[in-house]
Amino acid sequence: MKAQIIRWGIIGTGRIARAFAEGIKYTSNGKLYAIASRNLKTANAFAQEWEIKHAFASYKDLAQSDVVDAVYIATPHSSHAENSILCMRNGKAVLCEKPFAVNTKEVDAMISVSKENNVLLMEGMWSRFPPLMCKLREWIKNGKLGKIRVLHADFGFLPKERNPKGRLLNLELAGGSLLDLGIYPISLASMIFGMPSSVQTLANIGETGVDEQSSWIFKYPCGGLAMLLSSIECETRQEAFISGTLGNVRIHKQCWKPQKMTFTETNGDNEEIIEMPFKGNGFNYEAESFSNLLLEGTKESPIMPLCESREIMTQLDQIRKEWGLIYPMD
Ligand SMILES: NC(=O)c1ccc[n+]([C@@H]2O[C@H](COP(=O)([O-])OP(=O)(O)OC[C@H]3O[C@@H](n4cnc5c(N)ncnc54)[C@H](OP(=O)(O)O)[C@@H]3O)[C@@H](O)[C@H]2O)c1
Repeated sequence: MKAQIIRWGIIGTGRIARAFAEGIKYTSNGKLYAIASRNLKTANAFAQEWEIKHAFASYKDLAQSDVVDAVYIATPHSSHAENSILCMRNGKAVLCEKPFAVNTKEVDAMISVSKENNVLLMEGMWSRFPPLMCKLREWIKNGKLGKIRVLHADFGFLPKERNPKGRLLNLELAGGSLLDLGIYPISLASMIFGMPSSVQTLANIGETGVDEQSSWIFKYPCGGLAMLLSSIECETRQEAFISGTLGNVRIHKQCWKPQKMTFTETNGDNEEIIEMPFKGNGFNYEAESFSNLLLEGTKESPIMPLCESREIMTQLDQIRKEWGLIYPMD
């Protein structure tokens, strides 16, 4: 009989690993079975806190074990490719946190290994999976907004402390606002418009060598424009505005955690407010979707396909090239 529950493992024990562990609890088709850390004490503490059966003292031990079907990669950007490849070479399906990797070269290596090993691989762009985003895609497809012409979106926040060695500011860990936060508005733009034909960009590069805030204007073959921004220097509106010929949609704060949107008809009185609060903490939606793909034997997500993750990464590469921002992995 085919398995009805996906056995999950997590690599890394930081902030987002905890959010994902919480998220899995709200899924109907997955359970957390294992955690791996770079040291046993941390792995054991995490396992105890989240009541996980298996704790591993190295990422390799988890990858080589037979106690999980899927692994969620929750390490800094600089390790995404290496950790994902390790798991896929050992036959595990991989859900890798955003950004998918540091550059296109790494993404290409990840995609090749997924094909060679015939395993499911997906970028953990969790914002695409909540019910509100499904509704938005339905509206766009049905033409409710008409022809979409403009997107404004931003994601800026001010970290509580400024740690030059931490993953946000550290060049060695592929830090900076573009890869960490900018990926959300850029991924949204990609979902709406597809691949741009040209990009204009400006950045403020801080003393650690990474972009602390940056902005990009994308132009699309259809003539549409996206004006996007990310910052770790201040909190911004964290909203998205999609304007079409028939109407516009505002995705309310925090648009990367989408739960509320307002549709306003162009030149009309019609206003529709949609609220779809998360059932769970939001991570459950991507986990549920990923587990379903795995249970069905599907090797790629139609919501976050590999070719799109790759296209987005080529855009990030191009933007960094404009600024001369080079990571050690480049
Ligand atoms: N989806 C979202 O909303 C969201 C939000 C925040 C972050 N993220 C993404 O999730 C990933 C992890 O972010 P986080 O905030 O959870 O980071 P974090 O709190 O710093 O945790 C990262 C974990 O990775 C492991 N690790 C492996 N190599 C490391 C190294 N060289 N330096 C530091 N830690 C290392 C550590 O676990 P062990 O010590 O146990 O090995 C650490 O606990 C990033 O890619 C980030 O972009 C996503």
